[in-house]
Amino acid sequence: MILRRNLALLLLAGSVLTARAQTNNEAKVEALLKKMTLEEKVGQMAQITLDVVGKGGDRYSSAEPFSLDQKELEKALVKYKIGSVLNTSNNRARSTDVWYKIISQIQKAAMTKTPNKIPVIYGIDAIHGETYTVGATMFPQQIGQAATFNRALVRQGAEISAYETRASAIPWAFSPLLDLGADPRFPRQWESFGEDPYLVGELGYEMVKGFEGENNDVANPFKVASSVKHFLGYQVPVSGKDRTPAVISDQALREYHLPPFKKAIDAGAKTIMVNSGIINGVPVHANYNILTKLLKEELGFKGLVVTDWGDVENLYQRDRVAKDNKEAVRIAINAGIDMSMIAYNYEPFCDDLIALVKEGKVTEERINDAVRRILLVKYDLNLFEKPTTNPKDYPKFASKEFELAAYNNAAESITLLKNNDNALPLSKNTKILVTGPNANSMRTLNGAWTYSWQGEKVEEFAAKYNTILEALQQKAGAQNVTYIPGVSYKMDGKYFEEYADKLEEAVLAAKDADVVILCLGENSYTETPGNLSDLYLSDLQTELAQRLAATGKKIILVLNEGRPRVISKFERKMQAVVQTYLPGNFGGDALAAILFGDVNPSGRLPYTYPQYPNALFNYYHKPAESRSTTEGVYNYDADYNPQYVFGHGLSYTTFTYSGIKLSNSILKAGETLTVSVNVTNSGKVSGKESVLMYTSDLVATLISPDAKRLRGFDKIDLKPGETKTVTFKLTAADLSFITPELKAITEAGDFTIQIANQKINFNYEL
Ligand code: BGC
Repeated sequence: MILRRNLALLLLAGSVLTARAQTNNEAKVEALLKKMTLEEKVGQMAQITLDVVGKGGDRYSSAEPFSLDQKELEKALVKYKIGSVLNTSNNRARSTDVWYKIISQIQKAAMTKTPNKIPVIYGIDAIHGETYTVGATMFPQQIGQAATFNRALVRQGAEISAYETRASAIPWAFSPLLDLGADPRFPRQWESFGEDPYLVGELGYEMVKGFEGENNDVANPFKVASSVKHFLGYQVPVSGKDRTPAVISDQALREYHLPPFKKAIDAGAKTIMVNSGIINGVPVHANYNILTKLLKEELGFKGLVVTDWGDVENLYQRDRVAKDNKEAVRIAINAGIDMSMIAYNYEPFCDDLIALVKEGKVTEERINDAVRRILLVKYDLNLFEKPTTNPKDYPKFASKEFELAAYNNAAESITLLKNNDNALPLSKNTKILVTGPNANSMRTLNGAWTYSWQGEKVEEFAAKYNTILEALQQKAGAQNVTYIPGVSYKMDGKYFEEYADKLEEAVLAAKDADVVILCLGENSYTETPGNLSDLYLSDLQTELAQRLAATGKKIILVLNEGRPRVISKFERKMQAVVQTYLPGNFGGDALAAILFGDVNPSGRLPYTYPQYPNALFNYYHKPAESRSTTEGVYNYDADYNPQYVFGHGLSYTTFTYSGIKLSNSILKAGETLTVSVNVTNSGKVSGKESVLMYTSDLVATLISPDAKRLRGFDKIDLKPGETKTVTFKLTAADLSFITPELKAITEAGDFTIQIANQKINFNYEL
């Protein structure tokens, strides 16, 4: 008790100190702003990619080994007074020492040759570990981290990622991604925490705090500023393809897409990146209602709003809502953009924005607002005092301790979807055939944003880690493992091309094996190169699965994929199915440990796995989508028929739920309801269990209620025979929904709570 009070006092003292530093920094920003010319201010609002100032090549590439072109650097930083740089050069990871050298030189130019000595803020896509640093610890991608349902693991991952990003002299990470991964076709679903707004919000909160620290004290040289992205509604375009138009009602935007962002903003996230897409016909980068009214005014976001890559130019080049660059700049800045991730051609942005201010088409007040936000982040990050952090101060970079954290994260993410007749775990000395295009690839384990944008350079940088095959050879003994790919990916830059690679031999070899471990899925991709026109798993992989199944051997299907590719053409013939998502550099080891029972699987699906491409649902669908009735003339059966439901995941032990209880059968406005349930490990081995609590609003008068919604989760660890009581709290606000008039309300009436097979009702009274 005393300890807890001391801890609370300490946290309070920490937040008071941070608040004081913040007020100080605000005063510094005001003083600096008064000294700055319009040109300097506009320069602060511009962000370029590293290749622009790299020696050799052109703006789109640089000579290797990389070095800075002093003339180009001076032009950008001194003449144009550019305030921010992002990305790596030549789309390639660099060592911490190289990063230190590059960024020291950039900061030196900015802080010795410009009138007000303003440091540059350097940003990078550290999305599952520091993407562009050689040797950095690579965690599962967010979709796998979501499957852990473990807040502490997600926070720890972001803490390590922040440490290693600062070890690379970089203070700003373009992460977490809090878009709702509600469409399995979208090529970035794996970058999200899945389809549920509550889960995305809870884990997004942990990630922001992991990056920025409990009090968002990013002056701490082990913390970075986060960038919550992509505000708002990015992942659900009508076509399922990247950067194509979405149609989202304001009601749905607020009900499903907004809550995770609100949670991250309330958690103090320093920066936000904008959705590259188009909602209801309006590019989000041009949308004053979303960027200023909603984000800055209603949600009170005080941080910096950065565009996504080239999105101001997109307003005239792609979306044609502006006739030229100047009009695009005016629209975007007036909509509420603070910094433009221009990437390449920065001169027109700066020149046009200066002219627009002089012509009175953009007010100085708007410019001051933007620059204030940018400078505040720079002061908060302590960049004026310590513009570059030095790798020598980061001895834990790539340490065993960090690797173990990444391994544990992978081990808790892997999800056992099916296990007929206890096909798993495998017993020692089983003769195994390992096959499939994902069996021997570090690239597919990591996915994109790993050492390069699309992940195509992973093999070059990750050779020392174990592929699934290598991990299985170590675990089972090489003499017990035969490997024949059967199907392989083409490595010539075509993301989805495959070829039969000893397919016949693989089928023949199955006959001599006790078990086939069939590793199927996708090669790495992100953004538009990952666009897909058929959600079924490829024909060749399907053929391999069916041919192997015809041998009658026991098949363990291991999925290694960024989105749920449809497997219903052969799923019934698989004895076990294990989803690895994109588990990172330690995914092979974690999987092998699970297949042989050294680790008990505990991941749960963070999305609904579809059974057919034309039957895409979210678990929180409307009742009309799962109605099953044969009454009347027509059969209105709506066929809610996922392959595996949201939250599904098996264990090698069994958990029995009992005794669901409420503190009261009536919840009154302003009061809190306590829900408790007993969970017993009724099997023979220890196991971790994610306890998920859903509520259903039985009748809602203003809008058809969702079938159910996740309102709480907790992950517990139970020994055989052990029972734990898990409790959750519920208030009226947790049960609210957004009305067609865009108000959050909770209607009086009956609700059901569901935790596993336990159900209980209560009544909400106003
Ligand atoms: C992506 C962002 C990313 C940015 C910077 C864009 O293409 O959409 O998620 O942060 O590039 O690399």
